Amino acid sequence: MADNKERALSPAEGKLGVLLPGMGAVATTFMAGVEAIRRGISQPVGSLTQRGTVRLGKRTDNRNPLISDLVPIAKLDDLVFGGWDIFPDNAYEAARRAGVLNEGHLASLRGFLEPITPWPGVFDPAYVKRLNGTQVKKGKNKRDLADQLTADIDGFKKRHNLARLVMVWCGSTEIYLQATEVHSTIEKFERGLEQNDPAIAPSMIYAYAAIRAGIPYANGAPNLSGDIPALVELAKRTGAPIGGKDFKTGQTFMKTLLAPGFKARLLGLNGWYSTNILGNRDGEVLDDPESFKTKEVSKLGVLDHILQPHLYPELYGKIHHVVRINYYPPRGDNKEGWDNIDIFGWMGYPMQIKVNFLCRDSILAAPIVLDLALFMDLAKRVGMKGIQEWLSFYFKSPMTADNLYPEHDIFIQLMKLKNTLRHLRGEELITHLGLEYYD
Ligand SMILES: NC(=O)c1ccc[n+]([C@@H]2O[C@H](COP(=O)([O-])OP(=O)(O)OC[C@H]3O[C@@H](n4cnc5c(N)ncnc54)[C@H](O)[C@@H]3O)[C@@H](O)[C@H]2O)c1
Repeated sequence: MADNKERALSPAEGKLGVLLPGMGAVATTFMAGVEAIRRGISQPVGSLTQRGTVRLGKRTDNRNPLISDLVPIAKLDDLVFGGWDIFPDNAYEAARRAGVLNEGHLASLRGFLEPITPWPGVFDPAYVKRLNGTQVKKGKNKRDLADQLTADIDGFKKRHNLARLVMVWCGSTEIYLQATEVHSTIEKFERGLEQNDPAIAPSMIYAYAAIRAGIPYANGAPNLSGDIPALVELAKRTGAPIGGKDFKTGQTFMKTLLAPGFKARLLGLNGWYSTNILGNRDGEVLDDPESFKTKEVSKLGVLDHILQPHLYPELYGKIHHVVRINYYPPRGDNKEGWDNIDIFGWMGYPMQIKVNFLCRDSILAAPIVLDLALFMDLAKRVGMKGIQEWLSFYFKSPMTADNLYPEHDIFIQLMKLKNTLRHLRGEELITHLGLEYYD
């Protein structure tokens, strides 16, 4: 503990480079928002690192510091952005195309966004069927492509005199892949890179380039990317914190709010039908059945882990869980989701709940990118390496150690996150037992 405390106390000095593979709706909304907050024209709504507090000690102690006062988080003024895309649009053009921000915000942030131009991406349409990039790296093999990414990263670090880096995948969702032999060890993976093994997707090449250099890597999409044994092992060797997968926003966020409530009151569940309409590029990519499959697996996993049907077979043993995403261009980034939830109560009487969420996907995702970048950087500075389960709070399919089921309940995830911060500062963990108040 004392050792952790020492490490956590060292301040975040120098500039932090935030590397973003995929400069689309989420990435540009994130960068624009950070700049708007720096200029004082927006508030950091939705961000724990900027607004969250942690209770320390007893409820009667009245100690509730900001997270950023408890642990040394990098300052927004120290963030510098760089990224890759398979289209050459600069961040202003990409933000305009994404249609998330209004004209006023676009106009005032134009000067900041325009100079941020993406480096050519590592891409292959075999893994994202609906896109055909116009600026794509060419290389001898996949290892050579990884080396080209490393050269981009090194150049960026030098140009901006960066002290540290983190990478957050904001690229499109790739087709569904399962871990195979080539993903099992780093030696096999590196051989696979040289031999252009088709089981190695572009997002894995970015993850490899980051992790090999000890750079923290978080994955905002549901594709495997860093979530393979080879890269988990490499992260431990190089000291890189890693996390994923799939930002928890929108409908799944709602699901992880509601399902723990039903479970807490032991209300039964017969079915949960979720459907969405979405009209941005992400929606277009997810219109391909193979990319959708990756997303579907990520979204479907949530209920089982929260409701634990093996422990409550009569309540949750037979759930019809359906998830649909329909590409519908007129809505752009403003997704609309409908949930029909069939629950049952005392004596088996059925009830229904309807949720109609008119959300803004990238507005929900942007603060998650910020928090992940800053917490991943903190993890690196305090020597936490490999999978960062305490950041499960931000993901639909949290990565965990082997043989460990993921924790999906958002309230347990938040407690885990805050207890990790307390632990880093050598503060007492909060159990909510509270008997001492009545002694
Ligand atoms: N917005 C949300 O709420 C949310 C939630 C969970 C997950 N996600 C995931 O986050 C990712 C980004 O979402 P978005 O709405 O910004 O999508 P988007 O389509 O607007 O942006 C993705 C960008 O990635 C680029 N790209 C694709 N493959 C690439 C590669 N190999 N290298 C470099 N660039 C590449 C695309 O050209 C595009 O500009 C998607 O995978 C999405 O599924 C988003």
